[in-house]
Amino acid sequence: MVDSVYRTRSLGVAAVGLPDQYADGKAAKVWQLYIGDTRSRTEEYRSWVVSLLKGRGCRRVLDVACGTGVDSIMLVEEGFDVMSVDASDKMLKYALKARWERRKEPAFDQWVIEEANWLTLPDDVQRPGNGFDAVICLGNSFAHLPDFKGDQSDQKLALHNIASMVKPGGVLIIDHRNYDYILDTGRAPQGKNVYYKSDLTQDITTSVLWVNSKPHMVTLDYTVQVPQLPGQQSPPELSKFRLSYYPHRVESFKELLQDAFQGKCEQSVYGDFRSYAPGQEPAPCYFIHVVKKTT
Ligand SMILES: C[S@@+](CC[C@H](N)C(=O)[O-])C[C@H]1O[C@@H](n2cnc3c(N)ncnc32)[C@H](O)[C@@H]1O
Repeated sequence: MVDSVYRTRSLGVAAVGLPDQYADGKAAKVWQLYIGDTRSRTEEYRSWVVSLLKGRGCRRVLDVACGTGVDSIMLVEEGFDVMSVDASDKMLKYALKARWERRKEPAFDQWVIEEANWLTLPDDVQRPGNGFDAVICLGNSFAHLPDFKGDQSDQKLALHNIASMVKPGGVLIIDHRNYDYILDTGRAPQGKNVYYKSDLTQDITTSVLWVNSKPHMVTLDYTVQVPQLPGQQSPPELSKFRLSYYPHRVESFKELLQDAFQGKCEQSVYGDFRSYAPGQEPAPCYFIHVVKKTT
């Protein structure tokens, strides 16, 4: 629906089926530069995620939106048994390269990376026994799923599939940007962005598309100045790409999660990986939902 009147992604990315917004390779190419090096990006939340997972006795973790592999690498380094999946081969390419480069480390040799889509997850991923101890979906990934049908049926299906990968007693950690703030004020919260550490010059233009008086899509047009890399002849370049997101409000996302777990869950919400109370100042940039599947 939206895609026929409003383009959700960079020119040149095909609109057939579920569009892989990273398919032209442009965002994938600069992603690692944009989010900053793996270590400095993850230091903001490494100890929070790792202690949450270890505190709950998790060993086997599924990363359902691994992208270039940044969070998965953090977990492999921390000794978890990680399976990483993503729908975009252009993003997976970088995770596969990282695994290859560190293949002599046994933990990296055993790291499993596959292509999978949330809408077909049970067909794409072999679930171990009654599920993974933990599933993660970080970096505002879930909001990439568009609501082309206008009834959130794809979101419901995807979350149902993701929830089905969590074993009883296991946990799902899934996040999204603070779209409440973006929709209410027209701009992103001013606080420090916990995910993007890059000091590259960048410009991000935010557009909100309303359909029938409802916020339907937030589109970010990125312009990133890519420096000349050491040893490369190519001159510095300007990378431009567009990514679109479905703007989940925190309360409605909690309801979607409740639905996905058929009510058999305990939910907590954090802001920027810290405890969160509604209305707190400054407003967090991200909401992180932690959902325990009860038996
Ligand atoms: C913003 S990137 C984040 C990747 C990584 N978690 C990070 O924080 O760097 C979002 C990822 O979600 C993936 N994605 C979007 N829709 C998907 C879907 N339907 N199934 C699986 N992966 C999807 C994209 O391919 C992309 O790699």
